[in-house]
Amino acid sequence: MDFSGKLYLVTGASVDSDIGFAICKKLDELGATLILVSRREASLKDTAQQLTANKHHICPFDLSKLDEIPIWVNNLVKQYGAVDGLIHSASYQGYSPLRGVTGQQISNYFDINFSAAVMLTSSLSKARHFNPNASFVFIGSAAGVRGLKARTLYAASKAALHSLVRSAALELASKSIRVNCVAPAVVSGAKAEKQFEILGEAQTKILIDAHPLGLSKPEDVANSVSFLLSDLSAKTTGMTLTVDGGFLAG
Ligand SMILES: NC(=O)c1ccc[n+]([C@@H]2O[C@H](COP(=O)([O-])OP(=O)(O)OC[C@H]3O[C@@H](n4cnc5c(N)ncnc54)[C@H](OP(=O)(O)O)[C@@H]3O)[C@@H](O)[C@H]2O)c1
Repeated sequence: MDFSGKLYLVTGASVDSDIGFAICKKLDELGATLILVSRREASLKDTAQQLTANKHHICPFDLSKLDEIPIWVNNLVKQYGAVDGLIHSASYQGYSPLRGVTGQQISNYFDINFSAAVMLTSSLSKARHFNPNASFVFIGSAAGVRGLKARTLYAASKAALHSLVRSAALELASKSIRVNCVAPAVVSGAKAEKQFEILGEAQTKILIDAHPLGLSKPEDVANSVSFLLSDLSAKTTGMTLTVDGGFLAG
């Protein structure tokens, strides 16, 4: 794979994001130029410093400002040119037991995990905002496929994202834009460690054992994202590709 001359917008690109950072590293290695997005500018600068090429763009933005996304994207395209693809890795994660759910919590999960993806897809698929054969990839979750206790909101927001790729793929095929999703189960890293602390030793063992091939690494997710961006997947659209160590096979 060679992404020289390609421009990708990557959300969730902070240096302390397990998966987003691994995606940035992989795409940088493959020669791409990146528009790095998250809320914290300092964290994006740290990401850029750890990449080999000195050509990436640092663009802090709060994706929960849904109605501002079209004008923000318009400005990005004016400044940096049309994109060859989008990787939406930014997310709102956590536990939300049903007994304590609030309207604000529902918005927190859905705004970033689903609605921002819709707005980015809508804005980037406008004429002259994308290059021929563009590819959009969202980071979903095995939670969007299978029920998980105390994760109703996260899981439902990811299921909505998985659904989005199917309809968007049909609608954008006439523009030769492909739309796909990568769905990890638990991925080793800081988020997983936090989850294990909450669950305790016994539940953690059950969770890890539910991944027959073991936990995926952030790099495993990044490799699948690269495949879906590349011409190697030229006829793949509307799909959710699991990278889950076999979690959903059982
Ligand atoms: N880690 C796992 O085990 C796992 C498993 C399955 C699926 N996933 C999915 O994989 C993706 C990456 O996961 P991760 O654990 O590596 O991510 P993470 O560490 O939680 O990072 C989230 C990223 O999103 C950015 N972000 C959050 N809210 C934002 C907002 N309002 N506007 C703009 N950026 C925002 C954060 O940066 P700022 O704070 O600077 O904004 C950060 O870069 C997510 O979609 C997640 O749901 C992860």
